[in-house]
Amino acid sequence: MSLQTDGAALPEPALQALRAAVGPSHVLTDPDLRATYEADWTRRFHGVAAAVVRPGTVEEVAAVLRACGEVGAAAVPQGGNTGLVGGGVPRAAAPRDERGSPRPQVIVTMLRLRDIEAVDEVAGEVTVGAGVTLSVLQTHVRRSGWDFGVDMGSRDSATVGGMVATNAGGVNVLRYGGMRHQPVGMEAVLADGRIIRRLPGLVKDNTGYALGSLLAGSEGTLAIVTRVRLRLVPQLPRRAVALMAVDDAGQAAAFAAQLRRRLSTITAAELFDDDGMRLVLRHAGGEPPFREPHPRYLLIECGAAADPTDELVEVIAGLPSRDVVVASDEGGRLRLWKLRESHTEAVNAAGVPHKLDVAVPIGRIGEFDFAVRDAIHRADPDARTFVYGHVGDGNLHVNVLGPDPDDEAVDDAVLELAIQMGGAVSAEHGIGVAKVRWLVADRGESDVATMRAIKGALDPGDVLNPGVLFATPPGRD
Ligand code: MLT
Ligand code: ZN
Repeated sequence: MSLQTDGAALPEPALQALRAAVGPSHVLTDPDLRATYEADWTRRFHGVAAAVVRPGTVEEVAAVLRACGEVGAAAVPQGGNTGLVGGGVPRAAAPRDERGSPRPQVIVTMLRLRDIEAVDEVAGEVTVGAGVTLSVLQTHVRRSGWDFGVDMGSRDSATVGGMVATNAGGVNVLRYGGMRHQPVGMEAVLADGRIIRRLPGLVKDNTGYALGSLLAGSEGTLAIVTRVRLRLVPQLPRRAVALMAVDDAGQAAAFAAQLRRRLSTITAAELFDDDGMRLVLRHAGGEPPFREPHPRYLLIECGAAADPTDELVEVIAGLPSRDVVVASDEGGRLRLWKLRESHTEAVNAAGVPHKLDVAVPIGRIGEFDFAVRDAIHRADPDARTFVYGHVGDGNLHVNVLGPDPDDEAVDDAVLELAIQMGGAVSAEHGIGVAKVRWLVADRGESDVATMRAIKGALDPGDVLNPGVLFATPPGRD
């Protein structure tokens, strides 16, 4: 997170090995060409890469990792570069070798692995390359009447490989689970260039360790995911969206619980506050949905084969909300969704945000929402706070504007509170480099020692994404 930039160069033979692996035009060393790969979307995390390499096949990924391993370079896997915790861009302070010298960092972008197979209509599955974006996947499977269970605002850039590696969440987790729950097969390259592959798409496969499950959420530290077979879900062509004005986040969570119990068609339960909505309206334009401002808003979506509007209206009519609007037509639904989905962009346009993506027990969401604002104010009285997220999953995105990118006082205040309240420091964005200091506090010594043992077994040379998840390499405690 430090602004220091350490750019160790690659020795010429290593550059030649990379060029031989992927073709000279796919090894970018010019600083202007590297720039968009070197900084994350928030501008908070950035570092200098010796090169950006763009492999086009799994064999090329393997050759790239072997070339990195031979010279002790760090490989930084990258998908659509939509990560929010600094895990997909080079470290600002380069990882060090055993003698304390900075190691060159090589970004391995997966954007050229874009193969997409025909939908397996009988199994309801599809196999795609790691570089396929979520929106391309959605368009592809919807043509066959299927859909994909994970959806999120960054769909046009986020890639399947990155989503698996970070165990992405999104807006439909309460219905279909997160990214970890979607693969039924995976291909990946280990740090030493060996390829592991199990792609037959067996729904039931109890033959040994589930290596794909291990890689989901490993944040590029154990292997680079190159290809994934995904289970699909039925398309829900008829949708209805309600925006309910509520008193506080606790009431939103309580309403969401009742709606989940009573609405078989519910697909999303999202929360945002009035400050966030005003920021979105200023940034993206549009009219407020209610005449009066309200403290918090709960967005509910239902989806089904037949129009779910009547069912939704009947159930929300029984809840004492302050006000409500319902939309079934596409324009109206998109307008309501935009109020929630444009938060990321609106906050980013207003400054370099501190993004704290926490999970809290659903029953304590109201308490957390009050306490976190208080804790942030104490850490930085001038900070501006926006809280939004996936209330149905107990996942709140606490976004703070004001403190310098390097000032971690508000981060610490928020993460400490999440742990104190029985939550987790990351619900869906991962640990990256942003929350490394918090891993032991959250998971405990034994869990982290087990994770480090796995890392040490699969990547003893710490080739893959050093500095992500763990501050020090395996074996160097
Ligand atoms: C979201 O739910 O909007 C995303 O996780 C991104 C964000 O936290 O801004
Ligand atoms: Zn989210």
